[in-house]
Amino acid sequence: MAAGQRAGLTGQTVVVIGGSLGIGLETARLARGEGAEVIITARNADRLEAAGRELGAKTDAFDATDFDQLEAFFARLPTPIDHLLVTGPGPYYAPLPELDLDLARADLESHVLLPIQIGKLAIGKVRPGGTLLFMGGTGGRQAGVGMSVIGALTAAGPALTRNLAVELAPIRVNLIAAGFVDTPLSATLLGDQLDARREQLRSTLPIGRVVGPEDIANLAVHLMTNTALTGATYDIDGGQQLV
Ligand SMILES: NC(=O)c1ccc[n+]([C@@H]2O[C@H](COP(=O)([O-])OP(=O)(O)OC[C@H]3O[C@@H](n4cnc5c(N)ncnc54)[C@H](OP(=O)(O)O)[C@@H]3O)[C@@H](O)[C@H]2O)c1
Repeated sequence: MAAGQRAGLTGQTVVVIGGSLGIGLETARLARGEGAEVIITARNADRLEAAGRELGAKTDAFDATDFDQLEAFFARLPTPIDHLLVTGPGPYYAPLPELDLDLARADLESHVLLPIQIGKLAIGKVRPGGTLLFMGGTGGRQAGVGMSVIGALTAAGPALTRNLAVELAPIRVNLIAAGFVDTPLSATLLGDQLDARREQLRSTLPIGRVVGPEDIANLAVHLMTNTALTGATYDIDGGQQLV
Protein backbone atom coordinates (compact mmCIF):
# COMPACT_ATOMS: atom_id res chain seq x y z
CA MET A 1 0.00 0.00 0.00
CA ALA A 2 1.38 3.45 -0.92
CA ALA A 3 2.35 5.88 1.87
CA GLY A 4 -0.62 8.01 2.91
CA GLN A 5 -3.27 5.54 1.67
CA ARG A 6 -5.94 4.49 4.21
CA ALA A 7 -5.63 0.84 5.20
CA GLY A 8 -8.54 -1.04 6.75
CA LEU A 9 -8.26 -3.25 9.81
CA THR A 10 -8.97 -6.61 8.13
CA GLY A 11 -7.16 -9.42 9.88
CA GLN A 12 -6.14 -7.18 12.79
CA THR A 13 -7.11 -7.45 16.45
CA VAL A 14 -8.36 -4.33 18.22
CA VAL A 15 -8.80 -4.29 22.00
CA VAL A 16 -10.97 -1.62 23.64
CA ILE A 17 -10.71 -1.27 27.40
CA GLY A 18 -13.95 0.48 28.38
CA GLY A 19 -15.75 -0.74 25.27
CA SER A 20 -19.36 -1.16 26.40
CA LEU A 21 -20.43 2.51 26.22
CA GLY A 22 -19.60 5.88 24.71
CA ILE A 23 -16.29 6.46 22.93
CA GLY A 24 -15.03 2.90 23.43
CA LEU A 25 -18.24 1.29 22.12
CA GLU A 26 -18.29 3.47 18.98
CA THR A 27 -14.60 2.81 18.32
CA ALA A 28 -15.20 -0.93 18.68
CA ARG A 29 -18.16 -0.68 16.27
CA LEU A 30 -16.13 1.20 13.66
CA ALA A 31 -13.16 -1.16 14.02
CA ARG A 32 -15.53 -4.12 13.41
CA GLY A 33 -16.88 -2.30 10.36
CA GLU A 34 -13.31 -1.94 9.09
CA GLY A 35 -12.82 -5.69 9.38
CA ALA A 36 -11.05 -6.09 12.74
CA GLU A 37 -11.51 -8.82 15.30
CA VAL A 38 -12.55 -6.85 18.37
CA ILE A 39 -12.23 -7.57 22.09
CA ILE A 40 -14.09 -5.21 24.45
CA THR A 41 -13.83 -4.96 28.21
CA ALA A 42 -15.69 -3.15 31.01
CA ARG A 43 -16.73 -3.83 34.62
CA ASN A 44 -20.49 -4.38 34.21
CA ALA A 45 -20.64 -7.87 32.66
CA ASP A 46 -24.29 -7.75 31.52
CA ARG A 47 -23.92 -4.49 29.63
CA LEU A 48 -20.62 -5.72 28.17
CA GLU A 49 -22.19 -8.99 26.96
CA ALA A 50 -25.01 -7.08 25.29
CA ALA A 51 -22.51 -4.80 23.51
CA GLY A 52 -20.40 -7.81 22.48
CA ARG A 53 -23.44 -9.57 20.98
CA GLU A 54 -24.48 -6.45 19.10
CA LEU A 55 -21.01 -5.91 17.61
CA GLY A 56 -19.91 -9.51 17.16
CA ALA A 57 -17.01 -8.79 19.53
CA LYS A 58 -15.37 -10.94 22.19
CA THR A 59 -15.78 -9.69 25.76
CA ASP A 60 -13.84 -9.84 29.01
CA ALA A 61 -15.29 -8.23 32.16
CA PHE A 62 -12.89 -6.82 34.76
CA ASP A 63 -11.89 -3.56 36.46
CA ALA A 64 -8.96 -2.04 34.55
CA THR A 65 -7.86 -0.07 37.61
CA ASP A 66 -7.13 -3.36 39.42
CA PHE A 67 -3.61 -4.00 38.11
CA ASP A 68 -3.68 -7.71 39.00
CA GLN A 69 -6.84 -8.17 36.93
CA LEU A 70 -5.30 -6.08 34.15
CA GLU A 71 -2.19 -8.26 34.05
CA ALA A 72 -4.29 -11.43 33.98
CA PHE A 73 -6.31 -9.98 31.09
CA PHE A 74 -3.15 -9.32 29.07
CA ALA A 75 -2.05 -12.90 29.73
CA ARG A 76 -5.40 -14.13 28.30
CA LEU A 77 -5.11 -12.00 25.14
CA PRO A 78 -3.95 -13.59 21.90
CA THR A 79 -0.41 -12.61 20.83
CA PRO A 80 0.08 -10.37 19.00
CA ILE A 81 -2.71 -7.83 19.16
CA ASP A 82 -2.59 -4.86 16.80
CA HIS A 83 -4.24 -1.92 18.56
CA LEU A 84 -5.46 -1.04 22.04
CA LEU A 85 -7.70 1.88 23.03
CA VAL A 86 -8.00 2.65 26.73
CA THR A 87 -11.07 4.63 27.81
CA GLY A 88 -12.62 3.80 31.18
CA PRO A 89 -12.47 5.95 34.27
CA GLY A 90 -13.82 9.50 34.04
CA PRO A 91 -12.33 12.62 35.66
CA TYR A 92 -12.29 13.72 39.30
CA TYR A 93 -13.24 17.34 40.01
CA ALA A 94 -13.51 18.85 43.49
CA PRO A 95 -12.83 22.25 45.06
CA LEU A 96 -9.87 22.00 47.45
CA PRO A 97 -11.85 22.14 50.73
CA GLU A 98 -13.88 19.13 49.58
CA LEU A 99 -11.07 17.33 47.76
CA ASP A 100 -10.80 13.72 48.93
CA LEU A 101 -7.14 12.66 48.77
CA ASP A 102 -8.00 8.99 48.38
CA LEU A 103 -10.14 9.78 45.32
CA ALA A 104 -7.39 12.06 43.96
CA ARG A 105 -4.83 9.28 44.45
CA ALA A 106 -7.11 6.82 42.67
CA ASP A 107 -7.48 9.30 39.80
CA LEU A 108 -3.71 9.64 39.55
CA GLU A 109 -3.50 5.83 39.38
CA SER A 110 -6.08 5.57 36.64
CA HIS A 111 -4.78 8.44 34.49
CA VAL A 112 -0.99 8.15 34.94
CA LEU A 113 -0.08 4.75 36.39
CA LEU A 114 -2.66 2.83 34.35
CA PRO A 115 -1.20 4.01 30.99
CA ILE A 116 2.29 3.22 32.31
CA GLN A 117 1.21 -0.25 33.39
CA ILE A 118 -0.46 -0.83 30.02
CA GLY A 119 2.76 0.30 28.33
CA LYS A 120 4.71 -2.29 30.33
CA LEU A 121 2.19 -5.02 29.48
CA ALA A 122 2.18 -4.07 25.78
CA ILE A 123 5.82 -5.12 25.36
CA GLY A 124 5.82 -8.42 23.46
CA LYS A 125 2.00 -8.31 23.17
CA VAL A 126 1.28 -5.45 20.76
CA ARG A 127 2.92 -5.99 17.38
CA PRO A 128 5.56 -3.56 16.08
CA GLY A 129 3.75 -0.71 14.29
CA GLY A 130 0.57 -1.36 16.28
CA THR A 131 -0.94 1.35 18.47
CA LEU A 132 -1.69 2.24 22.05
CA LEU A 133 -4.33 4.97 22.30
CA PHE A 134 -5.14 6.81 25.51
CA MET A 135 -7.91 9.30 26.28
CA GLY A 136 -7.25 12.77 27.63
CA GLY A 137 -9.21 15.99 27.49
CA THR A 138 -9.02 19.66 26.59
CA GLY A 139 -11.31 20.98 29.38
CA GLY A 140 -8.61 20.53 32.04
CA ARG A 141 -6.27 22.98 30.28
CA GLN A 142 -8.21 25.87 31.79
CA ALA A 143 -7.48 26.69 35.44
CA GLY A 144 -10.46 26.98 37.76
CA VAL A 145 -11.97 26.05 41.08
CA GLY A 146 -12.12 22.28 41.38
CA MET A 147 -9.69 21.76 38.49
CA SER A 148 -6.40 21.07 40.33
CA VAL A 149 -6.36 17.31 39.89
CA ILE A 150 -7.78 17.20 36.38
CA GLY A 151 -5.51 20.13 35.40
CA ALA A 152 -2.38 18.33 36.54
CA LEU A 153 -3.41 15.06 34.91
CA THR A 154 -4.36 16.81 31.67
CA ALA A 155 -0.87 18.32 31.53
CA ALA A 156 0.73 14.96 32.30
CA GLY A 157 -0.97 13.11 29.42
CA PRO A 158 1.00 14.55 26.47
CA ALA A 159 4.34 14.21 28.31
CA LEU A 160 3.57 10.61 29.20
CA THR A 161 2.51 9.87 25.63
CA ARG A 162 5.71 11.29 24.13
CA ASN A 163 7.88 9.26 26.49
CA LEU A 164 5.93 6.03 26.06
CA ALA A 165 6.21 6.48 22.28
CA VAL A 166 10.01 6.59 22.61
CA GLU A 167 10.24 3.76 25.13
CA LEU A 168 7.83 1.43 23.33
CA ALA A 169 8.89 2.10 19.71
CA PRO A 170 8.18 0.60 17.22
CA ILE A 171 4.79 0.30 18.96
CA ARG A 172 3.08 3.67 18.35
CA VAL A 173 1.51 5.61 21.23
CA ASN A 174 -0.94 8.52 20.86
CA LEU A 175 -3.32 10.55 23.01
CA ILE A 176 -6.79 11.76 22.05
CA ALA A 177 -7.71 14.99 23.85
CA ALA A 178 -11.47 15.44 23.59
CA GLY A 179 -13.67 18.36 24.53
CA PHE A 180 -17.32 17.70 25.37
CA VAL A 181 -18.41 14.39 23.81
CA ASP A 182 -22.08 13.40 23.96
CA THR A 183 -21.77 10.06 25.80
CA PRO A 184 -23.40 8.38 28.83
CA LEU A 185 -20.52 9.80 30.95
CA SER A 186 -21.43 13.36 29.94
CA ALA A 187 -25.11 12.62 30.63
CA THR A 188 -24.21 11.40 34.13
CA LEU A 189 -21.95 14.38 34.87
CA LEU A 190 -24.47 16.96 33.64
CA GLY A 191 -27.75 15.39 34.76
CA ASP A 192 -30.67 17.70 33.95
CA GLN A 193 -28.26 20.32 32.51
CA LEU A 194 -27.46 18.05 29.53
CA ASP A 195 -29.92 19.49 26.99
CA ALA A 196 -28.97 23.07 27.87
CA ARG A 197 -25.27 22.20 27.42
CA ARG A 198 -25.94 20.58 24.04
CA GLU A 199 -27.89 23.64 22.90
CA GLN A 200 -25.17 26.01 24.12
CA LEU A 201 -22.52 24.00 22.23
CA ARG A 202 -24.62 23.93 19.04
CA SER A 203 -24.93 27.69 19.12
CA THR A 204 -21.31 28.51 20.08
CA LEU A 205 -18.99 25.85 18.63
CA PRO A 206 -17.37 26.73 15.29
CA ILE A 207 -18.61 23.39 13.90
CA GLY A 208 -22.22 24.23 14.79
CA ARG A 209 -22.97 20.81 16.26
CA VAL A 210 -22.14 18.67 19.27
CA VAL A 211 -19.20 16.25 19.03
CA GLY A 212 -20.34 12.63 19.37
CA PRO A 213 -18.55 9.37 20.15
CA GLU A 214 -18.56 8.49 16.43
CA ASP A 215 -16.30 11.50 15.82
CA ILE A 216 -13.78 10.22 18.35
CA ALA A 217 -14.06 6.71 16.89
CA ASN A 218 -13.13 8.06 13.45
CA LEU A 219 -10.02 9.69 14.88
CA ALA A 220 -9.12 6.57 16.86
CA VAL A 221 -9.32 4.32 13.78
CA HIS A 222 -7.29 6.85 11.80
CA LEU A 223 -4.60 6.75 14.51
CA MET A 224 -4.59 2.93 14.33
CA THR A 225 -4.22 2.81 10.57
CA ASN A 226 -1.94 5.79 9.82
CA THR A 227 1.48 4.37 10.58
CA ALA A 228 3.16 7.81 10.48
CA LEU A 229 1.59 8.88 13.77
CA THR A 230 3.22 8.44 17.16
CA GLY A 231 3.97 10.39 20.32
CA ALA A 232 1.36 13.08 19.69
CA THR A 233 -1.79 14.51 21.24
CA TYR A 234 -4.78 15.03 18.95
CA ASP A 235 -7.32 17.64 20.03
CA ILE A 236 -10.89 16.87 18.99
CA ASP A 237 -13.31 19.41 20.43
CA GLY A 238 -15.17 21.05 17.55
CA GLY A 239 -13.26 24.27 18.29
CA GLN A 240 -14.44 24.44 21.94
CA GLN A 241 -11.09 25.86 23.09
CA LEU A 242 -11.39 28.75 20.66
CA VAL A 243 -14.66 30.22 21.94
N1 LIG B 1 -17.34 12.24 27.29
C1 LIG B 1 -16.53 13.28 27.29
O1 LIG B 1 -16.96 14.44 27.13
C2 LIG B 1 -15.03 13.08 27.47
C3 LIG B 1 -14.18 14.15 27.19
C4 LIG B 1 -12.81 13.98 27.37
C5 LIG B 1 -12.32 12.78 27.81
N2 LIG B 1 -13.17 11.75 28.07
C6 LIG B 1 -12.60 10.50 28.59
O2 LIG B 1 -12.81 9.45 27.66
C7 LIG B 1 -13.02 8.22 28.38
C8 LIG B 1 -14.32 7.58 27.92
O3 LIG B 1 -15.37 8.49 28.12
P1 LIG B 1 -16.88 8.14 27.73
O4 LIG B 1 -17.56 9.45 27.72
O5 LIG B 1 -16.92 7.25 26.54
O6 LIG B 1 -17.33 7.33 29.04
P2 LIG B 1 -18.57 6.35 29.30
O7 LIG B 1 -19.66 6.69 28.35
O8 LIG B 1 -18.85 6.42 30.77
O9 LIG B 1 -17.97 4.92 28.95
C9 LIG B 1 -16.91 4.43 29.75
C10 LIG B 1 -16.65 2.97 29.42
O10 LIG B 1 -15.55 2.53 30.21
C11 LIG B 1 -15.94 1.48 31.09
N3 LIG B 1 -15.20 1.66 32.35
C12 LIG B 1 -15.29 2.68 33.24
N4 LIG B 1 -14.46 2.49 34.27
C13 LIG B 1 -13.82 1.30 34.03
C14 LIG B 1 -12.87 0.54 34.75
N5 LIG B 1 -12.39 0.94 35.94
N6 LIG B 1 -12.45 -0.64 34.22
C15 LIG B 1 -12.94 -1.07 33.03
N7 LIG B 1 -13.84 -0.39 32.31
C16 LIG B 1 -14.29 0.78 32.81
C17 LIG B 1 -17.46 1.63 31.21
O11 LIG B 1 -18.12 0.41 31.53
P3 LIG B 1 -18.34 -0.05 33.08
O12 LIG B 1 -18.90 1.15 33.81
O13 LIG B 1 -19.25 -1.23 33.00
O14 LIG B 1 -16.98 -0.41 33.58
C18 LIG B 1 -17.80 2.05 29.77
O15 LIG B 1 -17.75 0.94 28.90
C19 LIG B 1 -12.98 8.58 29.87
O16 LIG B 1 -11.68 8.33 30.36
C20 LIG B 1 -13.27 10.06 29.88
O17 LIG B 1 -12.72 10.73 30.99
C21 LIG B 1 -14.51 11.87 27.89
